[in-house]
Amino acid sequence: MWARRVSARAVFDNGGVTRPVPFDSGALRPRLPSPLEEVADDRFARHGVRLLLKRDDLIHPELIGNKWRKLVPNLEAAAGRPVVTFGGAYSNHLRATAAAGRLLGLPTVGVVRGDELAGRPLNPSLACCAADGMRLHFVDRAAYRSKAAPATLAAILRAAGAEDAYVVPEGGSNAPAVRGCRALGEELRAHADVVALACGTGGTLAGLAAGLGPGRRALGIPVLRGGFLGDAIRALQREAFGGPVGDWRLDERFHFGGYARTTPALEDFARDFEERHGLPVERLYVAKSLYGLVVLAEEGAFPRGTRLAAVVTGAPFPS
Ligand SMILES: Cc1ncc(COP(=O)(O)O)c(C=O)c1O
Repeated sequence: MWARRVSARAVFDNGGVTRPVPFDSGALRPRLPSPLEEVADDRFARHGVRLLLKRDDLIHPELIGNKWRKLVPNLEAAAGRPVVTFGGAYSNHLRATAAAGRLLGLPTVGVVRGDELAGRPLNPSLACCAADGMRLHFVDRAAYRSKAAPATLAAILRAAGAEDAYVVPEGGSNAPAVRGCRALGEELRAHADVVALACGTGGTLAGLAAGLGPGRRALGIPVLRGGFLGDAIRALQREAFGGPVGDWRLDERFHFGGYARTTPALEDFARDFEERHGLPVERLYVAKSLYGLVVLAEEGAFPRGTRLAAVVTGAPFPS
């Protein structure tokens, strides 16, 4: 168990965002706006930068971080139909979808990358999905890669027995999810000049940037290699809002070799951050974004006086 040591200097009331909150009663009741905590960290303070932690990891005990913001609009759109979605063997998104299915009594199907996994014992993440009632369907990597192609998708859904299901894409990023993430920006616009977060599919950044408003900037730190994310974010914003919205950019230097790759230096950094601030640091995404911010502060990337909010988009598994 994590000791909830509070090293925050201040906890802001960042309320005042008025919008209907769906699923605000019952099993998916969120803690929104999520808390915003200022922490004392000399690696930022010596450059005149104030570091704020946007605790999206506290929104909901099971739909953690960006998962509540992205999934709930999709669960509403599913309107009680079974939900099918996609992910790798350690996908946070698959676990969150399975948990939502259990909480709402909705059937869920998880299409998992890698048919070689089908005959093996489930890893702890997939075991958690299965325990929540998610039916797992393993597909080979070539089919998984081309799952956006209508014919491949149709074949996968047919084989999974999920032809009538509501389809949520990998990572949960589609137009409803991106619009759901706009509220993250709205919650922060009065409190932060720059808002940084780790990116996988870019859906959270696409929505965040739209909600921040003029004079504010979103900074994305991709955890995958490849340099494709800018185009993906532009496409998501087109789909969600009809065109580009907000000021955002990416720094592609902090993927540490790619998804789920790590180094001893990153591991040491994450452990040290946990000790300094009493924050459980999720390793696949959050650790890389915080590491990137420390480097950027050291490089002088933020003018003195900058209020820099780092979004804590997830929590370690198992927690
Ligand atoms: C903990 C965490 N942070 C960040 C992200 C990245 O979100 P996105 O795919 O919207 O870029 C994910 C992926 O879903 C995640 O699980």
